[in-house]
Parts: sequence; structure tokens; C-alpha cells
Amino acid sequence: MKLLILGATGDQGRAQVEAALTQGHEVRVAVRDPGRAAAGLPRGVEVAAADLATADWGEEALARAAEGCEALLANYPSSSFNDGGWLIDAAAATGRAAAIAGVRVVVFNTSLPQRERLMGYAAHDVRFRMRLALMASRVPVVTLAPVVFMDNLLRGWAFPAIVDEGCFRYAHLPELEVSWVCQADLASLMLSAAARPQLGGEVFRVGGPETLRGEEVAHRLSVAAGRPIRFESQSVDAFCEGMRPQVSRHPPAEAARLLEELGRIYRWYNEGAERPFTVDMTPVLEQLPVTLTPFSDWAAHQRWSRA
Ligand SMILES: NC(=O)c1ccc[n+]([C@@H]2O[C@H](COP(=O)([O-])OP(=O)(O)OC[C@H]3O[C@@H](n4cnc5c(N)ncnc54)[C@H](OP(=O)(O)O)[C@@H]3O)[C@@H](O)[C@H]2O)c1
Repeated sequence: MKLLILGATGDQGRAQVEAALTQGHEVRVAVRDPGRAAAGLPRGVEVAAADLATADWGEEALARAAEGCEALLANYPSSSFNDGGWLIDAAAATGRAAAIAGVRVVVFNTSLPQRERLMGYAAHDVRFRMRLALMASRVPVVTLAPVVFMDNLLRGWAFPAIVDEGCFRYAHLPELEVSWVCQADLASLMLSAAARPQLGGEVFRVGGPETLRGEEVAHRLSVAAGRPIRFESQSVDAFCEGMRPQVSRHPPAEAARLLEELGRIYRWYNEGAERPFTVDMTPVLEQLPVTLTPFSDWAAHQRWSRA
């Protein structure tokens, strides 16, 4: 296939670029700053320019970028820390651009758990509306809604405590069961969806092959790192405080509102009757056949030190 990938400079998009190249697909990406992006992307990737926050310009540029592509993998920046209005406009523009270019299927990565109704959480509901906006173009849209990424443990909000303190500190209650999924597996699932336009309209909640509590994750990390790593259930308030730098560009009142909303959705993740972080992958794999990576295998391939 020839694919257009949005958000290719982000963690999730980059994993999709790598997986697509490994599977032998041709890859084009649409980014805000092609010069900066090109340096960080693998060789052989075509780079086009499009700024999704400028809906009109974005649509025209995206339609050009999508020319000749069979599928479009759509990743967008945060719906927790960005204005929902432009994200929904960006999704609508993506759908129209895909229709103009004759793309056969758009695979939408919501990046977050989704339920099939508005839930009253801004980050969730913006993604819900983005899906409707994408689908308005009538191009088939397959939606994948992933739970928590294993790769998060390599990021600034988890990695330092793991390597410096032997502590897997995460804002999950001790009894919370989570179907951790790695970004490489999300990429494989998205590529599988890209080859199946007939699944247009479907929403797949996706996770990994096992559902683990915090202590079980810590045990697997201990084995992979070769030293003890304990689990510490962080309070949602402490987690949100740690996220304060992410909202520092906003005026104080808006920053406080965004952090409060982040806290609300994290409480839902932890306590919601819908169990947003638990997924049974058996029915999903019947339609999107891929081999999922167990947590231990993923952890064994990471470096659990600063060296
Ligand atoms: N489920 C989980 O475990 C998990 C973990 C982490 C994140 N997330 C979610 O995943 C989503 C993305 O995460 P993130 O924000 O951390 O992503 P990120 O890795 O920073 O990637 C965001 C991407 O969007 C692009 N982008 C930003 N503004 C753009 C614009 N105006 N036009 C075109 N492209 C634009 C960025 O490109 P540039 O290079 O141009 O900036 C980048 O490629 C968020 O909703 C986040 O909450 C979920």
C-alpha cells in the first residue's frame, strides 16, 4: 500500500511509520515543519507539509499529500491540552481531503479509550466528535481506541522513578486491571485496518494480550531490569500536578481548568463502571489479525538504565 500518515513526528505516528516500512509499504507523512521532521524520520519516507490547526490550508495541503495514497493513518495531538474546536475541524478537513484524493480508507487513532456515546469528559468527547467529523466525508473510517501504552514507561512521567528509585509510580489504583499495549502493536493493528476498507464505520477498542495490575507490571519490570522494582499507586492529584508544565502556555485559570479536567478523566479511567482500561482482544483479532506482544517481551527489549 501507499500510505499517508499524520502525526508522524509523534511517538504513536513514528511507530506506524516504522511498522509500515518494515511491512514494505510506501510512506508519505504530512507534518507542520518538513525541514525539522525530515531529520528525525527514516530514509525513504516522503515528507509533505500541512498544518492541521489551519483548517482551510490544512485541507488543501492534505488533499495534495494524500494523492495516490490508498489509506490514511490519522493521529492527532492531545485532546486534553488543545482546543477541541480546531481538532474537530482538523478531523473534518482530513475526511474531506481523503475524499478529494480518493483515499480508500482512513484509520483513526483516538489515542485514548472510547465509548460509543458522549461521556462528559472533554478529552473523550472531542475524540468522539472527531470521529463523526471524519465520517461526514463518507470515506470509510475505521477507528482504533487504544488503552494505555507500555511505551509510556519510557517517558518523563514514569521512567525516572523506575531507573532512579526502583519504583513504578503510576496513577493507577492497586486493583485497576489494565490491558497495556505497545505502540508497535497499535501500529500493526492500524496497518491491518488499512488493508480492510470494508471495516469502515467500525470502532475497535484495542489493548494488549494480557490484563495486568500495577504489582504484576512491577514484577515483569523487575525481571526485565534484573533488579527489584516496586509498584506505587500515585494519587490522581499528584499525577495532575506533575502535568502542570504541559499547560504552562495557557493563562492560569485555563491551566487550572485543564488540570481539573485531566483529573476527572483519570478518576474515570480508575473507577469508571465501564472499565475503560480493560479490553478483550479475542473478537478484535478475528477481524484485525496480528500477533500481540506480552508485557514481559516488550520490557525485555527496553533499556532500564540511563546508560
Ligand atoms: N493511551 C496512552 O497511553 C497515551 C499515552 C500518551 C499520549 N496519549 C494521547 O495521545 C495523544 C497524542 O499524544 P501527544 O500529544 O503526546 O503526541 P505527540 O507524541 O506529541 O504527537 C503529536 C503529533 O501531532 C502533531 N501536531 C501537533 N500540532 C499539529 C498541527 N497543528 N498540525 C499538524 N500536526 C500537528 C505533532 O507534530 P509536530 O512535530 O509538528 O509537533 C506530532 O506529530 C494525546 O491525546 C495524548 O493524550 C495517550
